[in-house]
Amino acid sequence: MDRKPIDIPTLQQKKRRGEKITMLTAYDAAWARLLDQAGVDTILVGDSAANVVLGYRDTLPVTMDEMLVLTRAVTRAVRWAMVIGDMPFMSYNADVADAIRNAGRFVKEGGAAGVKLEGGAGVVDTVRALVRAGIPTVGHLGLTPQTASMIGGYRCQGRTAAAARAILDDARRLEDAGAFLLVLECVPDRVAAAIARRVGIPIIGIGAGSGVDGQVLVLHDMLGFRDTGAAPRFVKRYADLGDRVAAAVRAYCDEVRAGAFPAAEHTFPIPDDEWAAFERGLEGSGQ
Ligand code: KIV
Repeated sequence: MDRKPIDIPTLQQKKRRGEKITMLTAYDAAWARLLDQAGVDTILVGDSAANVVLGYRDTLPVTMDEMLVLTRAVTRAVRWAMVIGDMPFMSYNADVADAIRNAGRFVKEGGAAGVKLEGGAGVVDTVRALVRAGIPTVGHLGLTPQTASMIGGYRCQGRTAAAARAILDDARRLEDAGAFLLVLECVPDRVAAAIARRVGIPIIGIGAGSGVDGQVLVLHDMLGFRDTGAAPRFVKRYADLGDRVAAAVRAYCDEVRAGAFPAAEHTFPIPDDEWAAFERGLEGSGQ
């Protein structure tokens, strides 16, 4: 297939040309391969893995080691998409040296092309240090789930003029620090579009309207896999795989219980003469 792996210049070129960038999350090889083959530009091994695959209540408990196992699984399967590892809570917050070491692990051990971390002014020095260390870095502004308890919960950010201005200022600071991409989560569409027009790096929105440079969704949300009640307003369900998987599992259980599975076509025969010899052997030994 004549496809070029996605790199930073490709993403910058897409922004310049007004071509939308696609991003989805993935956490294992099977799904990552499907997404990659279907043509998604970038795959985020999100710390949303904490909720959607590891069963934690929120994203805070997931560890570096857990994220690295998932990142390695994804990068083993991907040929074209750019894979970004999401730095877990407290893997970059304590000090800059720690952040460089942990971000470096995503690249060296995880095979990721870069890392994402949440926050504005408070992480600018860290972003600058990561970029200086040669680690491509993605920012994340607006609703930042790792610090949801400090921003009033999981709610839209930037709904006042001052709050919108603060997000724009943070976006500019992150761009200046060398971030090559920004995720903007749960921000009013006009604010998000204004930010996308005013920064040079691509803005990937989630709940930020269509006026930004690309979109990201959590895979389990867009495929209807998540079983934790109502999805956020910004999620569009492109499939109801949760219902289809449940129906398949029920059918399997029914068929196993009824003796209908496995059928002849799922079983391995032994030649008649070998079978006869086996039975004779059993009879001869009194078994
Ligand atoms: O962890 C994640 O999946 C994310 C996306 C929601 C952007 O950060």
